[in-house]
Amino acid sequence: MEIIDILVAEHRVIERMNALLRTELAESEIKGEVRLSFVYAAADFFKSYADETHHGKEEGILIRRLEGKPVSGEERALIARIAAEHAAIRAEVTSLALDARKYEAGDQSAAARLRASMKRLIAIYPGHIELEENDFFQQPWAISARRKKTRWPSLAMTMTPIWHTRSMSTFC
Ligand SMILES: [Fe+2]
Ligand SMILES: [Fe+2]
Repeated sequence: MEIIDILVAEHRVIERMNALLRTELAESEIKGEVRLSFVYAAADFFKSYADETHHGKEEGILIRRLEGKPVSGEERALIARIAAEHAAIRAEVTSLALDARKYEAGDQSAAARLRASMKRLIAIYPGHIELEENDFFQQPWAISARRKKTRWPSLAMTMTPIWHTRSMSTFC
């Protein structure tokens, strides 16, 4: 499985958590209280999975492929926007965990801040994921050489098996 396929699959997992967050926020607003067990679990998910595991791959593998290469103004702007959104998500998750501890200690004013953080996390992910799948992951440098090579034989296999058999050696 190529890195981009893994990252896209991880987006679907993040979207599921975002949907849970939306449901939890709606219930919290109706009941007027915050369910801390959910908030702690969500903060752990966004820190460990979404940030360290998922954003870690995007920054540590994909963006690193540009190191030492000439970078256009558009590419620079794209990478800066992705990094800024990752930083905003990281800061929001840190606030979420800190306010959860304050709320647990009896600070009722933390409830409004927790809901505000949940709202911002819910809002930022759809656009972030759309930007990555429609632009970032489509950049020629983001697609590995192996992925580029393996696309053609699978297409050829459905069209001309003889050509495919002969040409496979050029791709393997
Ligand atoms: Fe990202
Ligand atoms: Fe992503």
